[in-house]
Amino acid sequence: MAHVSDLIGQDIEAYLHQHEHKSLLRFITCGSVDDGKSTLIGRLLYDSKMIFEDQLTALEADSKKVGTQGGELDFALLVDGLAAEREQGITIDVAYRFFSTDKRKFIVADTPGHEQYTRNMVTGASTADLAVILIDARKGVLTQTRRHSYLVSLLGIRKVALAINKMDLVGYSQETFEKIVAEYREFARQINLTDVVAIPVSGLKGDNIKDPSEHMAWYHGPTLMGYLEAVEIEDRLQHQPFRLPVQWVNRPNLDFRGFAGTIVSGTLAKGEKLRVLPSGRESSVARIVTLDGDLESAVAGQAVTITLEDEIDVSRGDVLATTKAPPAVADQFEVTVIWMSDEPMLPGRPYWMKIGTRQVTATITEPKYKVNVNTLEHLAAKTLELNEIGVCNLSLDQSVAFDPYAENRDTGGFILIDRLTNATIGAGLVHFALRRSQNIHWQAVDVHKAARAGQKGQKPCVLWLTGLSGAGKSTIANLVEKQLLTLGKHTYLLDGDNVRHGLNRDLGFTDADRVENIRRVAEVAKLMADAGLIVMVSFISPFRAERRMARGLFEPGEFFEVHVDTPLAVAEARDVKGLYGKARRGELKNFTGIDSPYEPPENPEIYIDTTHAAAEESATAIVEELRKAGMLGSA
Ligand code: ADX
Repeated sequence: MAHVSDLIGQDIEAYLHQHEHKSLLRFITCGSVDDGKSTLIGRLLYDSKMIFEDQLTALEADSKKVGTQGGELDFALLVDGLAAEREQGITIDVAYRFFSTDKRKFIVADTPGHEQYTRNMVTGASTADLAVILIDARKGVLTQTRRHSYLVSLLGIRKVALAINKMDLVGYSQETFEKIVAEYREFARQINLTDVVAIPVSGLKGDNIKDPSEHMAWYHGPTLMGYLEAVEIEDRLQHQPFRLPVQWVNRPNLDFRGFAGTIVSGTLAKGEKLRVLPSGRESSVARIVTLDGDLESAVAGQAVTITLEDEIDVSRGDVLATTKAPPAVADQFEVTVIWMSDEPMLPGRPYWMKIGTRQVTATITEPKYKVNVNTLEHLAAKTLELNEIGVCNLSLDQSVAFDPYAENRDTGGFILIDRLTNATIGAGLVHFALRRSQNIHWQAVDVHKAARAGQKGQKPCVLWLTGLSGAGKSTIANLVEKQLLTLGKHTYLLDGDNVRHGLNRDLGFTDADRVENIRRVAEVAKLMADAGLIVMVSFISPFRAERRMARGLFEPGEFFEVHVDTPLAVAEARDVKGLYGKARRGELKNFTGIDSPYEPPENPEIYIDTTHAAAEESATAIVEELRKAGMLGSA
């Protein structure tokens, strides 16, 4: 390594000691390749000399070969080379680089400036103390500068180094610099970024990077490196209340039961009282165990295993907190959602939510508004598209411990995951819990589903018929109901076309509306099953995610997914309602099978092939399945 510190030669122990005790600054760089970001970071790395020597040699050789800088070192090559190595196999394009000077250690999250910037920035910014926002002096404050700054502020970064780059290309003009700074400050003020230090630099020429520039005598502020080395970072994490999301329960033998995880904030000492959330049980710390032995106390950032004085229930996903300042527990929140998927967010669709180490199911309401990050305007929205940011309500299938994001990024930040593909599709920040969730309690009743169903001599269940429009769902469901009636069974048929005349009159056929359509009818079916009925649902219900959501509302064995399978060509040829014709002529939009998808069931309980069986025959087969499953009592 080419790090030049005289101490290395003189007293290696002292050097290492100094190195270990240097403070650490985490920062993120925002800007695009065009702004000269790679060159700037490359220059920072180079000037700090924390580059492996062989890399330096390679850089010199490469620059001669392909460099665009006419014989000078091309720092962009250095960074891009590292990035290429790292980016292999990772989905989120954030490269973390480490470097160090005599004064401080640094971790820089370098996020590419292309279209996936939001996702990358959110990832990079969530742990950063500071942001370096790059502006090309020739171009000034751009839309993307505003976006980056808005995200930086949203994600809780309070300090900004505004690097006005390529000063060499504007003749090192003070006037240009000041004009840009004034414009930026005006915008920054509106988004509560008040701690902004503007520095005129040239990453390429090295002006004001490590050494003060000879070309800008008018500038008296710090160099970029000088600023990064000296800027004060509060130890915010250590001064917050203690939080440890439990990663796993370590139980190697009957005598040891420890709760392992990383302390995300605060400090903890042996003997201190702890509360486990969401259960609320309390105990005190018996031991703080690490790989290097027991500790008397531990601080944010450390990975530890904690044992408690009492045998209380703690599981993965729980949060350990001090009793003095415990987090709140709730299952409904107002949140900011940053959408990161090409598929738009669908209000009502269940997603996985990971908050701390806990994973729960979450549904999002229609946004209250989305934010135009350029103008900061609040806009009405039905959904959120890729890179859009909106404020929504979120409701979970169980309560979780949380802090508002503004107080704790780790226990107040979360990600959203697609339940089918497992891809990360959004990130979010908790504002506060909705009070209504604390004021509404489940009311216990004395007459139960089993009693109601028993009285009817049947077991409640739902037959969920899914298939294309015109597949024959309603015809078959109707025949099933007639047969069940003859058998003396108590039933109800919920038919898509009919329910859309009443309860769901306000819904159309966009993806979002279909999701809500299915959510409502699934809830109604659940109430009807609770009433002891055999319920038939005959809806196209084209999406797997919502059928799975519906299934999740019922007890095991109660939900029969019936795939009424008819090839599109056959359904279209029948075209009883004339809708396929309209759709083909472009008179009807979002028609299932034509310009809106149908996702067939993968493992339906009952499969009906309408090309081979007549409707009456199919109905009989379905009733037979119900009988076999014991749903029809003695009938
Ligand atoms: S679902 O997709 O949301 O489950 P649902 O079963 O409620 O659909 O309604 C489907 C019925 O609405 C169809 O049988 C058809 O008669 C009618 N319809 C009108 N427009 C459309 C459309 N764009 N796509 C599908 N069905 C439509």
